[in-house]
Amino acid sequence: MADLDLSSIKTIDNLDVEGKRVLVRADLNVPIEDGEVADDTRIKRVLPTISKLKQGGAKVILMSHLGRPKGERSPETSLRPVAQRVEELLNGGPVRFFDDCVGPEVEDGLKSLNKGDVAVLENLRYHQGETTNDIEFAKQLAALGDIYVDDAFSSAHRSHASVEAIAHLMPAYAGKLMMAEINALTKALADPKRPVMAIVGGAKVSTKIDVLKNLATCMDVLVVGGGMANTLLNAQGVNVGNSLYEPDFLETVKEVLASAKKAGCEIFLPVDEVVANELAPGTDWDVCDVNAIPSDMMVLDQGPKSVERLKKRLGEMSTLLWNGPLGAFEVSPFGKGTLALAEEAGRLSQEGKLISIAGGGDTVRALNMVGATPSFTYVSTAGGAFLEWLAGRQLPAVVALSTSQTAPAQTAVA
Ligand code: 3PG
Ligand code: MG
Repeated sequence: MADLDLSSIKTIDNLDVEGKRVLVRADLNVPIEDGEVADDTRIKRVLPTISKLKQGGAKVILMSHLGRPKGERSPETSLRPVAQRVEELLNGGPVRFFDDCVGPEVEDGLKSLNKGDVAVLENLRYHQGETTNDIEFAKQLAALGDIYVDDAFSSAHRSHASVEAIAHLMPAYAGKLMMAEINALTKALADPKRPVMAIVGGAKVSTKIDVLKNLATCMDVLVVGGGMANTLLNAQGVNVGNSLYEPDFLETVKEVLASAKKAGCEIFLPVDEVVANELAPGTDWDVCDVNAIPSDMMVLDQGPKSVERLKKRLGEMSTLLWNGPLGAFEVSPFGKGTLALAEEAGRLSQEGKLISIAGGGDTVRALNMVGATPSFTYVSTAGGAFLEWLAGRQLPAVVALSTSQTAPAQTAVA
């Protein structure tokens, strides 16, 4: 985000919202199981913004997408259970739910909101104009409020109407979570306390190649884990047996290795591996040296020597940026490496020795499995947006906020 002026983003810190209709774009895209919210982390993370606006006397209107419904309505993608959960978490006054997000009925209904009231609108993606960044749809949304607040960093990589077009139509501000995410990531990537290590894991190198390319130019140590590491190892002549790897990416990976060398970034790869014949719970497994992976076996986790070596190197770092597991951590016993690392990073952070920033669904799940989340300096709510940021790309919604030229909010119409 180097050439973006992030300081031009307006925050809600000193914003007068008394009596105003504040349209808040949150990312309430949470898992729904049996008609109920199965994980409310994202809802909880947006509460500070909601509470601040409520306390300031705003009429708070929350909007979000949920899932990828492509225009069709269904109970699985309705925000109704989310509205219910918001009400429980706010613990004060009912939360109104509207079964659409635009239109005369919604406009009329919102007129009865009082200061401090909260409303939740139905899924934005029930309208095609959302994902096509349609200006007419954005105008319909903008008609619902006096002020726009974007608190959906985890949707900021989408050029969609509720995060991009709308920011040019009304006074646009970043919410507290949006600012926390931007500040944490800027600090870790653009101006980290050094030495700084990034750990990038996951199954496929192809999905994170731009992340590796970018991090190789600005990190001191780049640890590659998961199936991705197999492709890097293979590029260095290691036979990875039956493991997942991507031969089509060998040349690209070699370029990453070369650019890391040029930039003085140490690429940290495993020296031993946990191998098995299949990825199945409780299956037989073995540990072998990285240069002795049996041709009929697959790598499913980093071996104990690698994990110890990594923990030691981590102890020499001041900052850690982490996205993606070291192995198939969701299937026992192949989570040992990832979970040991999560514990160690949590411990070092707790002791004030490490600034730790993590993002992405799998990584957060691993942190939660060992209870390390509260110890981390910052845990992002974002998956895709976190990766785009790590790849050095500008996020459309952040650009929109920083370039929004809309006039300051007018005095509220009662
Ligand atoms: C996410 O869960 O990463 C965000 O809510 C974005 O969702 P999307 O990938 O469907 O745009
Ligand atoms: Mg624009």
